[in-house]
Amino acid sequence: MADQRFILAIDQGTTSTRAIVFDHAGRPVATGQKEHAQIFPRAGWVEHDPLEIWANTREVVGEALAKADINRHALAAVGITNQRETAVVWDAATGVPVYNAIVWQDTRTHQLVADLGGADGPDKYKARVGLPLATYFSGPKVRWILDNVDGARARAEAGELLMGTIDTWVIWNLTGGPDGGVHVTDVTNASRTMLMDLKTLAWDPEIAADMGIPISMLPTITSSAEVYGYGAKDGLLIDTPIAGNLGDQHAATFGQACFEKGMAKNTYGTGCFMLMNTGTEPVPSKHGLLTTVCYQIGDTAPVYALEGSIAVTGSLIQWLRDNLQLVDSAADVEALAASVDDNGGAYFVPAFSGLFAPYWRGDARGALVGLTRYVNRAHIARAALEASAYQTREVLDAMEADSGVRLIELRVDGGMTANELLMQFQADQLGVEVVRPVVAETTALGAAYAAGIAVGFWAGEADVVANWAAGKRWTPTMDAAERDRLYRSWKKAVTKTFDWVD
Ligand code: G3P
Repeated sequence: MADQRFILAIDQGTTSTRAIVFDHAGRPVATGQKEHAQIFPRAGWVEHDPLEIWANTREVVGEALAKADINRHALAAVGITNQRETAVVWDAATGVPVYNAIVWQDTRTHQLVADLGGADGPDKYKARVGLPLATYFSGPKVRWILDNVDGARARAEAGELLMGTIDTWVIWNLTGGPDGGVHVTDVTNASRTMLMDLKTLAWDPEIAADMGIPISMLPTITSSAEVYGYGAKDGLLIDTPIAGNLGDQHAATFGQACFEKGMAKNTYGTGCFMLMNTGTEPVPSKHGLLTTVCYQIGDTAPVYALEGSIAVTGSLIQWLRDNLQLVDSAADVEALAASVDDNGGAYFVPAFSGLFAPYWRGDARGALVGLTRYVNRAHIARAALEASAYQTREVLDAMEADSGVRLIELRVDGGMTANELLMQFQADQLGVEVVRPVVAETTALGAAYAAGIAVGFWAGEADVVANWAAGKRWTPTMDAAERDRLYRSWKKAVTKTFDWVD
């Protein structure tokens, strides 16, 4: 008989925190969700308040358990998944952060990463960590905090401060904070810091020294599925095993059951992130992708992935809503875009955080080009949606060139996959089938699976494969000449975004 208990997944994302209760069939039973403030102190800077995130985490856990009408006794384990490179530094004795979390989208380390590369350039550490030097990653963000917050460096060197990505922050707090909290991160999150050696899965002391980050403030690196600790005595999750931890994109790859080499998924969230499973050896990229750890279950061999990261997709739609007031709600963009037949010649390259894959241009800024008096707000809405599809095509091209694998279908998930117009255009641009599973909450689900596997609630990956089912498919219909004409114009538009930062 199936286990009657549940797994709770906490998904701490860029715009909101969610807690979802899953049953043994991998079906969501109840969800709690809360948005947190996006703090923009200057152009290019993006911060979150870590204490607000922790308060929201507790609130949404309570909400999900209440909606499911269960308490901690019905939970077999808790899995965590998170926005990745966002970095927090806090006081180990009080749990008070010394500065806001610096978010993955933040570009303040532009000069710092150029200086770190020096004469060796942006690929200085790539062979070891799989990443180019870019503003995206956590290590330089921590360096910025230690350099810019009064007294922080001395306190870090004295062992008083801890650093972590958001998984680390949430797990430390869940397990007791200053009162015995465990200070851990998993291999997937660690692989986004620029500080972990991809082969040894240990912190690289030389890179940490170059970045001026004391190793003593870094968390212990663990696998993605093992019991890290237990819920603290004074919380909602007393004694409940905290047993799964994956960066959100890795969790989605796991939840999409991409367990075979060459299988890939694309998640349409704030940004867009395509990961392809490349098996148990890291594959270096020659085409602007990242090499990253895909997941590691307990003491089994780690599985690696190639990743194409796109900084801005869903957040462009929020920007149209919040900064331009072009629509009342993000969902209205589809209807507005569908009210015209095409983009009217307009292309919108949302290089708000520079450009990530495959360009890695910290000096890029957004551009809306191809404008004539013919272009109206519906064309702009359409150009904004199309931007996600073109950026994804650039990443897929790089993925195929690096891996030698020709994709036959792309598994998709994330909020924007509700947008039919975008998904059809995506299939048209890629020339491959796009498929969304029945349970599209694959990020939270992946973290739940990792936690459930760690405590024996699920036997292993075969259970994940058995639970995965295709929901909706989009088949390409656009003729090849038209799809390539549009893509050529997009490529031209991209060149207009370079060299905007001195
Ligand atoms: O690398 C950043 C990524 O993990 C953020 O994902 O879903 O919060 O936009 P999301």
